[in-house]
Amino acid sequence: MAIIPARPGDHNLKDYARARETFRFEDVEREFSWYTTGRVNVVYEAVDRQVEERGMGQQVALYYESGERQEEYTFGRLQEESARFAAVLKKYGVQKGDRLGIFLPRSPELYISFLGAARLGVVVVPLFEAFMAEALRDRLGDSGAVGVVTTSELYPRLPLDQLPALKHIFVVGEDIPKGAVDWHREMSLVTETPPLEWVGREHPLFILYASGADGKARGLVHVHNIMVGLLITARWVHDLRPGDVYWCTADPGWITGIAYGFLAPWLLGVPVVVRGGRFNAEDWCATLARYRVSVWYSAPTAFRMLMSGGDELLARYDLNRLRHILSVGEPLTEEVMEWSLKKLGQPIYDTWWMSETGMNMICNYRCMPVKPGSIGLPLPGIHAAIVDDEGKELPPGKIGNLAIRSGWPAQFRAVWNDPARYQQYFQHRPWFISGDAAYRDEEGYYYFQGRVDGVINTSGERVGPAEVESRLEEHPAVARAGVAGKPDRLRGEIVKAFIELNPGYRWSEDLAAELRNFVKTGLAAHAAPREFEVKESIPLTRDGRVDRRVLREWILGLGGR
Ligand code: PRX
Repeated sequence: MAIIPARPGDHNLKDYARARETFRFEDVEREFSWYTTGRVNVVYEAVDRQVEERGMGQQVALYYESGERQEEYTFGRLQEESARFAAVLKKYGVQKGDRLGIFLPRSPELYISFLGAARLGVVVVPLFEAFMAEALRDRLGDSGAVGVVTTSELYPRLPLDQLPALKHIFVVGEDIPKGAVDWHREMSLVTETPPLEWVGREHPLFILYASGADGKARGLVHVHNIMVGLLITARWVHDLRPGDVYWCTADPGWITGIAYGFLAPWLLGVPVVVRGGRFNAEDWCATLARYRVSVWYSAPTAFRMLMSGGDELLARYDLNRLRHILSVGEPLTEEVMEWSLKKLGQPIYDTWWMSETGMNMICNYRCMPVKPGSIGLPLPGIHAAIVDDEGKELPPGKIGNLAIRSGWPAQFRAVWNDPARYQQYFQHRPWFISGDAAYRDEEGYYYFQGRVDGVINTSGERVGPAEVESRLEEHPAVARAGVAGKPDRLRGEIVKAFIELNPGYRWSEDLAAELRNFVKTGLAAHAAPREFEVKESIPLTRDGRVDRRVLREWILGLGGR
């Protein structure tokens, strides 16, 4: 595919070469109020400041729509309601540094709860709404959460008997279970709201659990300083400016839905659209048109689903306001890029980053030529490299480990309760080893080549094979399981499980359905294997772990044992 020429942007990086030489993150730090006052809280910068210093109290911050519900929240209202929720937390004794799980579907209550907690310096543990008992137990248990916010519908999934630290359950909804706190009622009872708490730049903001190749999900600790990385990327990558309406389609149970779903745009006072419910091509087009979305951040899987909706669908909606489209999470294929050029009249800008990085790292910028297939160029201030397994830098054209020099502002600061796993990322200091394979061309553009470590990426969602394996092995029919990603046109990869059966069990479609459901009800729907294959035995490495190399060979049809 031909190179796509540069287009004008507002915050342009035309002088990329110069910015790479001269830009320092301290340049953006000056824009935060704490630069002069010394008082830090991301909620102040993203919400209160718009009201108190910029006269934007009446401006819409959030357009929400889901089924029958259609609501607008101004910055003023968000400030007010989140302060109320802070009062509720305080009443129940939840304090600075305590962890609070947020297990809610995309809804205004989710954003209000997040902001309310962060106002007090309470650390949020985001929990994707599809999580089931085991996933919830691991995350709430590991983080030692003292409270959780959920809905009446999701409440039954909480394995309360296995969570001794969990004291307060705030429930949004009609039927409030015995012993739980009625979120809406408590909000209505608040008469006085506490002041926002100032915290340090290094104070934890949220702990996001992300799947790795081994063991259980790891709690990545992000701190208030993440705002420095978010502000600069909101500008240089997303090209946000006053007058924009921004829609990031990711769920705030994942990093994209937190960092770009609301924090980054609000730092610039730009309103966001949030759509509840499941993906539906028609509704998505309607949303783009109704809210006159101008900047749209989504993922290849979603673009492909829209493509399958056909031309006739797009033709029915006026998408004239759409001026900048970005993608993340999985490879942006040529097919999707061509569709966008043809049907939406503009390219899609790919961005590469991960839960650990907290901010966009390697991106395509409007003001620079896009080489389709490339994830782009490192953001000024970010130093990327391709290194070998000893941490030695490799020249252009050579595939190796995609690495980032440690020390960027939005970097995760720890793995909660697990310093050893944190250190694994930094075996080759000063490099952070991403776990992705990539190469770089002579002009410095990077090309993603897949995961190195067996982490599965299905529809942009990260699945840890070991978590799925251990769940499968809890089923009486399964002696051992080996799980890997299988390339898939629609989803990037699907979860495939190889099963070694216990004596006395026979394989059948019913058993496959049962196992699928067993993973779904234990972990989450997106982690459930779409394909199974029975094997005599699952290959193990000398130290007794599943040999992922052999699984990959099986999947790619390269023989095996
Ligand atoms: O393999 C890379 C893939 O998603 C992984 C990170 O997943 P997660 O932490 O869930 O964060 C997703 C969104 C930030 C990476 O290790 N990935 C991310 N961006 C891209 C990508 N793969 C291909 N192209 C991308 N642009």
